[in-house]
Amino acid sequence: MKKISINQMPSHIGEEVKLGAWIANKRSSGKIAFLQLRDGTGFVQGVVVKADVGEELFQTAKGLTQESSVYITGTVTEDTRNSFGCEIQVSEIEVLSLAEDFPITPKEHGTEFLMDNRHVWLRSRKQHAIMKIRNEIIRATYEFYNQEGFVKMDPPILTGSAPEGTSELFATKYFDEDAFLSQSGQLYMEAAAMAMGKVFSFGPTFRAEKSKTRRHLIEFWMIEPEMAFVEFNESLEVQENYVSYIVQSVLKNCQLELERLGRDTSKLEAIQAPFPRITYDDAITFLHEQGFDDIKWGDDFGAPHETAIAEAYDKPVFITHYPTGIKPFYMQPHPDRDDVVLCADMIAPEGYGEIIGGSERIHDYDLLKQRIQEHNLDEAAYAWYLELRKYGTVPHSGFGLGLERTVAWISGAEHVRESIPFPRLLNRLYP
Ligand code: 4AD
Ligand code: MG
Repeated sequence: MKKISINQMPSHIGEEVKLGAWIANKRSSGKIAFLQLRDGTGFVQGVVVKADVGEELFQTAKGLTQESSVYITGTVTEDTRNSFGCEIQVSEIEVLSLAEDFPITPKEHGTEFLMDNRHVWLRSRKQHAIMKIRNEIIRATYEFYNQEGFVKMDPPILTGSAPEGTSELFATKYFDEDAFLSQSGQLYMEAAAMAMGKVFSFGPTFRAEKSKTRRHLIEFWMIEPEMAFVEFNESLEVQENYVSYIVQSVLKNCQLELERLGRDTSKLEAIQAPFPRITYDDAITFLHEQGFDDIKWGDDFGAPHETAIAEAYDKPVFITHYPTGIKPFYMQPHPDRDDVVLCADMIAPEGYGEIIGGSERIHDYDLLKQRIQEHNLDEAAYAWYLELRKYGTVPHSGFGLGLERTVAWISGAEHVRESIPFPRLLNRLYP
């Protein structure tokens, strides 16, 4: 007997097959039982007819509890009501394990309860759909950068430097030395770009941020491209093309998942490059017009400010040229003004906030050295980074896209905790 997965069923209509599956749900009458089967590749209905299978097997089917594991044998038939267009007429059930009372039932559960049960909550239809979308974004990311001639390079996780400021570092011991968990691979990616031209990384990053918002994780995954000979505006074009590409890939390859999540896909269809750009200066003026009297030039934007700006557009928007004082040490100054830098944050629509932070990098040795000193950074730890400016320094730019915020936005999840398999949040290390 051929063992297949649920997503392979459409090409086996009329055949007898074997499936390994869990019982997601079940309903039955005196004569027929409907088993909602899931195997990770999809959900499908198994039909058990007492008159066909006999009393004993029928009672076995009726006794299956939620999340029991089974091997099912049966004939695949067409059923246009199902998302895969088929169901299975069950002829045999081998019970692998009869599950105990499963904590996640079809009723409503509180957030803390669901988070405590994340290891099994992942099996629910909604979480499954979000994880499939996350996977598609990762797949499309590799596809996009490979097509564009980028080389994947992996920066270290244990580091001695802090690109995004020293206040949110996870410190650890590296034998006798002090080390940190990486906040961003950027500085290493700059070295990689000088070796390979165009590079990208994809890996976990860590921020000991005491923020408890729907956009903040302690451990999150970042995609960080870095490009030699690419200047500020050219980098924005890569960013808008990349984000359009992943959104269009999800629309194409995750139709079932978007439908299951009830996502308004017309909003995603609008996500096509180019994206609008607004300077920080103009954003401040706009916010004042909108009645945000609390914000003044030189302040960083909070979530309400970003959301108000994003609401003016139906695509992600770049906010460009932030004040030097609120951005990291490595950003290239504006050629005509020394109070702003060549940087941009990409703000997602629908209140999902900043999904990309990026900039042109300082390529002048003396200026970078001065900035390292102004920011009171340990010069010895950054010696290698500064040295990159000694050997054929070139204009270069890069950016980091936060995967979980992007997944939350595209799938319409209300909180980033649902867009990573095992979220690390303030006060949560379990499971
Ligand atoms: O804006 P950030 O801090 O930029 C950097 O780290 C740069 N060194 C990246 C680069 O240029 N290579 O972070 C980049 C993105 C943010 O736009 C956001 O999407 C995400 O990372 N991010 C977070 N996501 C979840 N939880 C957090 N605590 C995050 N902090 C940043
Ligand atoms: Mg940022």
